[in-house]
Amino acid sequence: MITATETKLPKIKTALPGPKAKEVIAYDAKYMSPSLTRDYPLVAERASGAIVEDADGNTFLDFAAGIAVCSTGHCHPKVVEAIQKQAAELIHIAGTDFYHRHMPEFAEKLVSTMPKSEKWKVFFGNSGTEAVEGAIKLARYHTKRDKLIAFYGCFHGRTLGSLSLTASKSTQRRNFGTLLGGVEHIPYPYAYRCALGHTKETCGGEIIELLEQQIFKRLFAPEEVAAIIVEPVQGEGGFIPAPLFFLQELQRICNKHGIMLILDEVQAGMGRTGKWWAYDHAGITPDIVLTAKGIASGMPVAAFIAKESVMNWKVGSHGTTYGGNPVCLAAATATFDLIEGGLMANAEKVGNYIFSKISDWPKRFKIVGDVRGKGLMIGVEIVRDQRTKERAPDLRDAVVDNAFHRGLLTLGSGENSIRISPPLIIDEEQADCAIRIMEESIREAEKAV
Ligand SMILES: Cc1ncc(COP(=O)(O)O)c(C=O)c1O
Repeated sequence: MITATETKLPKIKTALPGPKAKEVIAYDAKYMSPSLTRDYPLVAERASGAIVEDADGNTFLDFAAGIAVCSTGHCHPKVVEAIQKQAAELIHIAGTDFYHRHMPEFAEKLVSTMPKSEKWKVFFGNSGTEAVEGAIKLARYHTKRDKLIAFYGCFHGRTLGSLSLTASKSTQRRNFGTLLGGVEHIPYPYAYRCALGHTKETCGGEIIELLEQQIFKRLFAPEEVAAIIVEPVQGEGGFIPAPLFFLQELQRICNKHGIMLILDEVQAGMGRTGKWWAYDHAGITPDIVLTAKGIASGMPVAAFIAKESVMNWKVGSHGTTYGGNPVCLAAATATFDLIEGGLMANAEKVGNYIFSKISDWPKRFKIVGDVRGKGLMIGVEIVRDQRTKERAPDLRDAVVDNAFHRGLLTLGSGENSIRISPPLIIDEEQADCAIRIMEESIREAEKAV
């Protein structure tokens, strides 16, 4: 088993939050922006592997991984060593203005994961939203078109360009005025709630028809569209995988009309679904792929990877001060090697194991409507009534909170789902522990129904 943990299972010793955690929370309230969305009062002090220790010495099993970021677990020794070594040699030089070997070295690794039928180029940034912004610019620059098509429920970031594509929660857009023009949103194929009763494999044909027969005929011609941007598995929106045929259809439409297909793999990518990229399951070749989060084990690295024929903008068209920072890329390189060296296979193996244990939850628990996902990206949808599928955000919050009090960290997703996105290092013993805690937490929440 691949793990950096010394302690593998959680232990809660104090009431939560404990006294020291309460102090930090009060301190935070004094100085920090109130816009941050804290689901429950975890005050992290240190972490190793899949275990997080709080300010009072309680330990938690981490099935959130800092929003699917700590793919190699917390403070993996190889990642720590790479960061420490690089920090002593070169911290910053500005890859926009000067050269350093870490940029092409890590870019070559990223390119090795892409379809071999094409040549690819890479641009590094610091966060998912920056990758999205860069991709919007590149798609517009390359196609000389400005219209963009995105999907309801998808999340692409919070800066003004990416926010224009994000259609997850209205609070994320509210009071920020007019966003980017030329953006149209269409429904995402959400099999559990498919109005036509289609399955996880077949849902979405009507959306393709909407795009071709309505949007392209009544709103703007396909020749005006720069890009279609989609999450192959919706992350923030509820851990909802798009059916594979749907992604294939998007590629067909994009190829037909010279539209850039941008796949936002910021949450789903880098091994989490058992393949490098979630789109690999569909066997398609996108024009631009976006990655961040799990790529560097918690150091800020993002990238957009585009076909060489697409990334043909002129010197000065796009740049960054910090993007491709040597220390961050050292962490990314170590992370990549670990994912390639076994964690991706582990994600598939332990993901399948978890599915085999929880796919019958809708039969066993009356408030579980759906269990879905791939690898270690698993969504559990909580409903008040399985027949009406009435969403139950309060019960979802109760399950997440109950789990926290039992020592398991998870996060909500979408209006009423729970995301299970542990580090890719977890083993079956840790999976069993998390499943037991989740089951107890669901049972407790069910008492309120
Ligand atoms: C799919 C996706 N795209 C983009 C982003 C934005 O990333 P960041 O928060 O690093 O800017 C996120 C963040 O959750 C995401 O899940």
